[in-house]
Amino acid sequence: MATTIKKPRKKSPLKHSVIPTLNGKTMLVCGGAGFIGSNFIHHIFEKYPKVRIINFDKLTYSGNTDNVRDFVKDARYTFVKGDIADQKKVTAVFKKYQPDYVINFAAETHVDRSIHVGSLEFINTNIVGVFNLLEAVKVAGTVQSFVQVSTDEVYGSLALDSEDKFSEQTAFAPNVPYAATKAGGDMLCRAYHNTWGVPVIVTHCSNNYGPRQYPEKLIPFFVLRMLEGKTLPLYGDGNHVRDWVYVLDHSRALELCLLNGKPGAVYNIGADNEMNNREIADRILKYFGKGKGTTVGMPLTRRSL
Ligand SMILES: NC(=O)c1ccc[n+]([C@@H]2O[C@H](COP(=O)([O-])OP(=O)(O)OC[C@H]3O[C@@H](n4cnc5c(N)ncnc54)[C@H](O)[C@@H]3O)[C@@H](O)[C@H]2O)c1
Repeated sequence: MATTIKKPRKKSPLKHSVIPTLNGKTMLVCGGAGFIGSNFIHHIFEKYPKVRIINFDKLTYSGNTDNVRDFVKDARYTFVKGDIADQKKVTAVFKKYQPDYVINFAAETHVDRSIHVGSLEFINTNIVGVFNLLEAVKVAGTVQSFVQVSTDEVYGSLALDSEDKFSEQTAFAPNVPYAATKAGGDMLCRAYHNTWGVPVIVTHCSNNYGPRQYPEKLIPFFVLRMLEGKTLPLYGDGNHVRDWVYVLDHSRALELCLLNGKPGAVYNIGADNEMNNREIADRILKYFGKGKGTTVGMPLTRRSL
């Protein structure tokens, strides 16, 4: 009688590995009352019903507690008003809540303000603030992952006719104070990982669009102008090109980085959805049933997106 030899069953690689979850964990979200931070909080609460979120926000002009009003009475949610540039306050929050995960959206973000109003606040929040968070994560020693949310503006800009794309290896070439301060924060993250093994991940995303954005930024600014019956001012010839990412896609990418990212790594986040400002203006005009002639050129060379 022929003997049959049973082939050993292949073990599923997933069977014994733990799929990371935020349920049962405490996450410190800095800058969670702003545009991307508040969308991220909505996304995380929807996906992980048992997560605890501490939203630490200074409530600058762009922070708005209305953005997170759905959670005000939610036992899983705590709001703490505070400045990441205030080391004592940051230390106290880490001591009190002992977060397992940290993500930092807190930043001065408006390019035009960094040019026309001044850069000091940008240096305080985007560099000193990041330093304080890195120190707190290092001292705590219990944070599993810290994501520093940064921007592709640190790479500068590509020529209009260029086919190139930014990669994680592209050299930093910030062109405006906002981008220079974000690059400074990113460099501190790199140094803290290399020197002390701080589990920090840096992400560089392109321009976001979606709900809850402060109307100084291009798309809500144009939409409000249309609602007020005004023209859409285009800076220069409107040929400035950026990639546009939907804010919840960015939030999902950040969740992946937080749970599955490699400590010390840098991840670029984009959507391959490049458009110049004129195309964006034309789409909004079309949506409101207006002709292309309702845009006007302006003699400035740059406006923040
Ligand atoms: N908006 C974009 O298109 C975009 C694209 C790529 C990266 N980013 C990055 O994403 C992050 C969030 O951007 P956003 O568009 O949501 O910004 P935002 O201006 O809408 O929100 C920033 C939030 O940070 C808070 N904040 C500012 N300074 C603070 C401080 N010192 N301490 C504590 N809280 C403070 C504000 O009150 C606000 O709630 C930023 O780091 C930005 O560089 C933004």
